[in-house]
Amino acid sequence: MADWYRTWYNVELDADTEILPLIGSKEGIVHICMTYLDQGDEVLIPDPGYPTYQSAVRLAGGTCRSYHLSEANHWFPDFESLEKTDLSKVKLMWVNYPHMPTGALPTTELFEQLVAFGKKNNILICHDNPYSFILNEHPMSLLSVDGAKDVVLELNSLSKAQNMAGWRVGLLCGAKERIAEVLTFKSNMDSGMFLPVQLAAAKALTLGKEWYEELNKEYSERREYVFSLLDKLKCSYDKGQSGLFVWARIPSTYDDGYAMSDDILKKAAVFITPGGIFGSEGKQYIRVSLCSKKEKLLDAAERIEEAFSSQGATVDLAG
Ligand SMILES: Cc1ncc(COP(=O)(O)O)c(C=O)c1O
Repeated sequence: MADWYRTWYNVELDADTEILPLIGSKEGIVHICMTYLDQGDEVLIPDPGYPTYQSAVRLAGGTCRSYHLSEANHWFPDFESLEKTDLSKVKLMWVNYPHMPTGALPTTELFEQLVAFGKKNNILICHDNPYSFILNEHPMSLLSVDGAKDVVLELNSLSKAQNMAGWRVGLLCGAKERIAEVLTFKSNMDSGMFLPVQLAAAKALTLGKEWYEELNKEYSERREYVFSLLDKLKCSYDKGQSGLFVWARIPSTYDDGYAMSDDILKKAAVFITPGGIFGSEGKQYIRVSLCSKKEKLLDAAERIEEAFSSQGATVDLAG
């Protein structure tokens, strides 16, 4: 894991003390919250964002404070408006770039701002980074910013970039003091992974550029199918987005993403995720997964086209 971070992110980590292997990165989200939160502690949560951040904070007894992300601000936090609020009870901030569900990519400037924000306000920045290799040529780690280890914990995963979702392997990286704190909690929950799984993960992390190119070739072909499906549904979207999903704004003919999703489900028996499940800022959007094979995406597009043209479409599929 340390070699992988050095090779791809240019980040030096001590394999013995600065990395904690996890049974998938999802458990790490809960472990971090259980380690650091007491009743009344506040946590900044992205809206839209991965719903587990909110559940984990609540399970640990913390209080969620959503920070709003908008398309107009590239789905980046508005640090200025956050600093106008009382941050004295905020212990953690969850961030995730490339961002799920919007596919927004990070910039060096954003990462520097996050580290500066954490230092200035004494907030532990928890970066969830499972998508950096998917449809993105420049994987970045928040730990590559100078001095980041003082305020950053980063989660990573083998579920997406190494196709090992069912194997359950992730990792937590950061300063040795932070890793030791989380380990104090985690070592009371489980006793680590089956050795063959760890050896397979270590082997998978040695895969070279060709592996990621092959993986991304498949995802970019699937994405073309999804783009054309979204064109038929009159949605608008950013072609530069990354990650395993396509995030798209719905046409004004629907009240919100839930109404559009329900309509497509009822008429074509195809489920498209309404963006509202990721937070109120996602209401006017839908999210399509690239995890399905091309044949399935094509089948879905055909069923949608057929259902809407035969039943007096609320969506105009002519285009
Ligand atoms: C943003 C985000 N974080 C974490 C995870 C969890 O990944 P893992 O399989 O490593 O637990 C997911 C998976 O869906 C995700 O979308």
